[in-house]
Amino acid sequence: MAEQQTDLKKVLKQHLEMESFFVGDFSIKGPEELFPVASPDPNTQQEASDMTLSLDTIAATVRSCTKCEISGSRLNAVPGQGNPKARLMFVGEAPGADEDKQGLAFIGRAGKLLTEIIIAMGLSRDEVFIGNILKCRPPGNRDPKLDEIDNCWPYLKRQLEIIQPEVIVALGAHAARTLLDTKDAIGKLRGRFHEYKFSDEVPPSKLMPTYHPAYLLRNYSYDNRKRVWEDMMKVLKELGLPVPKKRG
Ligand code: URA
Repeated sequence: MAEQQTDLKKVLKQHLEMESFFVGDFSIKGPEELFPVASPDPNTQQEASDMTLSLDTIAATVRSCTKCEISGSRLNAVPGQGNPKARLMFVGEAPGADEDKQGLAFIGRAGKLLTEIIIAMGLSRDEVFIGNILKCRPPGNRDPKLDEIDNCWPYLKRQLEIIQPEVIVALGAHAARTLLDTKDAIGKLRGRFHEYKFSDEVPPSKLMPTYHPAYLLRNYSYDNRKRVWEDMMKVLKELGLPVPKKRG
């Protein structure tokens, strides 16, 4: 009982410290027009709704996908969600228990931290797109297997082609390694821009690998949080968005 209370206190303390690191000290709300959610131009609106249609088609295909064994143990597939015209896309590893229950990406503990990071960047979850390498939860949250990544990859690849975000943030080693087709460690990859190549015809997106929010929660140190925040500041600069100043 005493042990449980200490755990709870530790989790609460971590949460409050995280909140003040990512929200309290840095938060500013960027001017809306810098990151338009919907354009008043009717042609662009039509384009956005066509894109939503194709993203919806991918989501429907994902929900009926049975390519991997793990589809048999899922409660819900998690196609990913957000703004079809997002300039910024976050890609994680795979759904966890909360995501599996609700069919939405990043809504558990790691998701709450990701939301805090997005808000600290002066943005909202509605303005970005959030997805994963795997669309089904691996049992017990084990690492994705290579054949599962291969089976699931066409869905994310198509989402990326439709959205064509200017910047992709790869959250953690699995996302970074899959998107960059490398075996390098996340510690080596993070902190600088790489390129995500679509095809010869389409200009590449910038890709910033950073630590996964779940890693950050497990390895809770000022230095790690600072590293992630520095990565996000580079992302904001690349997008031409205001970089919040640390207050106090
Ligand atoms: N971790 C991920 O990588 N993705 C989620 O959606 C949730 C947790």
